[in-house]
Amino acid sequence: MSNSADFQSWVHARQSRIESTLQNVLPASEIAPQRLHQAMRYAVLGGGKRVRPLLAFGAGELAQADPGRVAIAGAAVELIHAYSLVHDDLPCMDDDVLRRGKPACHIQYDEATALLVGDALQSIAFQLIADYRLANDSATQLDMVKLLAAAAGSRGMAGGQAIDLEATGKSLSVPELEFMHIHKTGALIRAAVLLGVRCGASLNERELAPLDNFAKCIGLAFQVVDDVLDAEASTATLGKTAGKDAQQNKPTYVSALGAAGARSFAEELRQKALQGLDGFGDRALRLRELADFIVLRKF
Ligand code: IPE
Ligand code: IPE
Ligand code: MG
Ligand code: MG
Ligand code: MG
Repeated sequence: MSNSADFQSWVHARQSRIESTLQNVLPASEIAPQRLHQAMRYAVLGGGKRVRPLLAFGAGELAQADPGRVAIAGAAVELIHAYSLVHDDLPCMDDDVLRRGKPACHIQYDEATALLVGDALQSIAFQLIADYRLANDSATQLDMVKLLAAAAGSRGMAGGQAIDLEATGKSLSVPELEFMHIHKTGALIRAAVLLGVRCGASLNERELAPLDNFAKCIGLAFQVVDDVLDAEASTATLGKTAGKDAQQNKPTYVSALGAAGARSFAEELRQKALQGLDGFGDRALRLRELADFIVLRKF
């Protein structure tokens, strides 16, 4: 991981910007229905690494985007991600009780509320992309709506979650695992990068191709590392129950390749992600540092 003080302070500044954006776009707890709004704020605020918004900021910097636009686009992706976590923890899915160091949403509130939290967060995400001017032209902005919809839906995250549930208790081949991971996790991470780019100056095909390659590789790498951490890190470090993939008999990169094999595959993906960013010089500095963070992280 790039531990440079400069990267750390870049991360902290953007994490606090995204935190205040999320604070502002979520309905206040006092507004009716209060319990739902409290649960939405509970699920989103004050936790999480905010990796997807950070990637949007990194990509936005590369495209010289207005940071105010990127904050909204990044918040939209983070809201979809937070919704996916709330649903992922439900008893009908991974049946987890701990998330981001706190009781999971359905434990703190109840299952029906957790279901509605996910629904309502998803709606706010799309409303944000409709309410704010995020791109230089309306065709690009419409493209952003389509991009996020595809990444969240049955051919993206939700589809990946369906594959995950179907695969539980079975073993998958490496290509099948890759297909599942690209969908359940890779799709939203890729969307974060591509939305960040679209907030800025329009790039040509020759510039977009290496960015899309970067986004796809680190999206897959993110879930490969999540599999490794589930097997190797502690519940206290992760803020979510460790060891549950093996316990629930989930096919993962660790069950397929072993922890060392999964780690070296993640490293391979990092190298592949960085290929093609050289041409951007310093404009891609934050994306390079984020790739290092994603692969070398301990939580
Ligand atoms: C966890 O995502 C779920 C996956 C998609 C792997 P994160 O590791 O980004 O979770 P937070 O947002 O930091 O809590
Ligand atoms: C989650 O994958 C992917 C999502 C779309 C939420 P996991 O089930 O491995 O995520 P964690 O480990 O519970 O965070
Ligand atoms: Mg899951
Ligand atoms: Mg889970
Ligand atoms: Mg996991």
